[in-house]
Amino acid sequence: MRIGIFDSGIGGLSVLHEAYHRLPDQEYIFYADTDHVPYGERDPKEILGYVRETAQFLMEQGVDALVIACNTATSVAVRILRQELSLPIIGMEPAVKPAVEHTDQRRVLVMATPVTLREAKLKSLIARVDGQHRVDLLPMPELVRFAEAEQFDTPELKEYLTKQFSTIRPEEYSALVLGCTHFNYFKDLYRRFFPEDTALVDGNDGTVRYLAHLLSLDIRDELGEVHFETTDQLLEHTAYYTSGKSVTDQETLEHFLRLHNRLEEMRKIR
Ligand code: DGL
Repeated sequence: MRIGIFDSGIGGLSVLHEAYHRLPDQEYIFYADTDHVPYGERDPKEILGYVRETAQFLMEQGVDALVIACNTATSVAVRILRQELSLPIIGMEPAVKPAVEHTDQRRVLVMATPVTLREAKLKSLIARVDGQHRVDLLPMPELVRFAEAEQFDTPELKEYLTKQFSTIRPEEYSALVLGCTHFNYFKDLYRRFFPEDTALVDGNDGTVRYLAHLLSLDIRDELGEVHFETTDQLLEHTAYYTSGKSVTDQETLEHFLRLHNRLEEMRKIR
């Protein structure tokens, strides 16, 4: 099967990376709309326009399914896209349900972009699953920029996280929901702020499982290491695009390679 995975930027690589683990035999087209990242502070109508354009592009590449590897784009566009297009569309939403159901009785913190936090989709999800009012919300727009700039260990990043987390009490939380795919790059840093038993919950595993279910694909349970040495390996099962342009230059491919290898490290942190 040929599967299109897209995001405003490099956050979606975390979903592709999970797919490499779980569905290694498929063919992927990865699309990052880097001309318009970040989506999370834009007008929803504008985001819908970008998502439509990207979906059209991926349809023209003959994909069998479309994964919106972006919580922000999903909250704005998934319902409309499903009405307009006839192929399977998999969206993402912050993994609030598993966080509320599978952790202890302490509180749950959901981090996401301002648009995701404002949209009705998340509000109705929380109303459905948070009967005990244990969920708190924290916008983290700057993390998207830090990830795009490949800043994973700078003083500015640490300062930003310190400032944001000073507004909450980390010890109150049994789960931290990573409600934006860009947030997967910083798991080592969250660990410095939150107690060891605070679960870091992302939606990648659930998304790839749902994709497998929709396409009747067998999911792989035995997980090996996914590490890339060369950019040729990166291109074996995937064509990469940024805002409609095929990625062929070595610099960008090496950037993606480093990001995949970082995601492999972050994936080990739960
Ligand atoms: N990665 C995206 C998400 O999951 C959006 C980041 C952005 O462009 O603001 O929400």
